[in-house]
Amino acid sequence: TDSRGIRTGPDNSPLQIFVKAKKKINDIFVEIEDYVKDTVEYMHEIEKEQKIVNDEKVKQTEEFINKVHGIRDVLCRDHMKVAFFGRTSNGKSSVINAMLRDKILPSGIGHTTNCFLQVEGTTTDEPYLVQEGSTEHCAVESVGQLAHALCKEKLSESTLVKVYWPKNRCLLLRDDVVFVDSPGVDVTPNLDEWIDKHCLDADVFVLVANAESTLMVTEKNFFHKVSMRLSKPNIFILNNRWDASATEPEFLDEVRRQHQERAIDFLVKELKKPRKESFFISAKEVLQARLAEQDQKVSTPLTDGFQTRYFEFQDFERKFEECISKSAVKTKFEQHSQRGKFIASELRNILDGIYNDALKLKEEKLKQRKELNDKINYTEQQLLIITQEMKKKIHTMVEDVEQRVSKALNE
Ligand code: GTP
Ligand code: MG
Repeated sequence: TDSRGIRTGPDNSPLQIFVKAKKKINDIFVEIEDYVKDTVEYMHEIEKEQKIVNDEKVKQTEEFINKVHGIRDVLCRDHMKVAFFGRTSNGKSSVINAMLRDKILPSGIGHTTNCFLQVEGTTTDEPYLVQEGSTEHCAVESVGQLAHALCKEKLSESTLVKVYWPKNRCLLLRDDVVFVDSPGVDVTPNLDEWIDKHCLDADVFVLVANAESTLMVTEKNFFHKVSMRLSKPNIFILNNRWDASATEPEFLDEVRRQHQERAIDFLVKELKKPRKESFFISAKEVLQARLAEQDQKVSTPLTDGFQTRYFEFQDFERKFEECISKSAVKTKFEQHSQRGKFIASELRNILDGIYNDALKLKEEKLKQRKELNDKINYTEQQLLIITQEMKKKIHTMVEDVEQRVSKALNE
């Protein structure tokens, strides 16, 4: 890793499962595209000489070129998406910043995030914002400026603003992970609209709960709604602000057990999901520590139990990376590979059809030639017979004439 904690050595991140699968499936589609193009070229060639391919088949094959192009376009844009939810001020934006190792999203006390914010990687050197329905790139240099840009206009809470952050500043973004931050689930009556607009294609959901209180009805309610729309959502529960427990160490274990039980109860009994752990973390501490590490400074005085919470955060990150890449490969690439298979088998059918038609044509020509030969033989024989008869007739005629002539002379 370099001084910013970014991996530079051999890449063993579970995210590589997705990155490598994406490369592989893209290579396969490059091959399919070549195969389709070759077929079309071949069809045009034989179409000129023989009438065994009809226009409809040629058109059908030409359309496959567009289809493969379409799939490759979508494939390029395919990414892993994680959406963060929870009540206001639980630390959703702080968790994202901690994972991205930078203060990218505005965070603070009170109701801070007031619309959906999507952070994704860009190959440009500078970050920029794009608002929903616009293509204009607005430059952002600091979090303060980003917050200001977001406040300038009164955005509806379900609006999506995209934040493009340079990939070379963050490994997760380089590996195609897209983060979606949301306003608190308790400040909106439009949960259904949120889910339809922003959640249906999420691979993983992270519920950021407040370890100082407990899972709230509004939070549970939100995930019940998600579960109704998606058959098997992947949900991680983060009990954030666990640093608060340091001030009450005598209750630490008991509170932890209580949260853990409630989280598991919620996932297993209420949402009927397989058992997933919930994590006890402090996003604020992780971010502080990581920022200090990057500047090679010693972090601010650490609260008791920091190391354990930090390890638990890393444990979450590892499990999260594994879960999101496997889930995204399945949901995103399964469809593409089905379509690829379909195109390949359709092409095969078309080519098989051409081959069979060509065979039939060959047989027909052979048959025609045989018939023609038979006709020629017959005519030759007829001619022979006719000429022989003619010869005879002429012969007798000549004899007859000769006889008559000599008779006449004698007389
Ligand atoms: P909204 O955008 O308003 O919905 O809030 P949010 O969930 O995004 O919370 P945000 O990340 O803005 O954090 C709210 C406040 O809590 C900020 O002042 C953070 O610094 C603080 N905070 C976040 N995580 C922790 C934590 O683990 N421990 C402590 N002590 N404070 C935290
Ligand atoms: Mg926020």
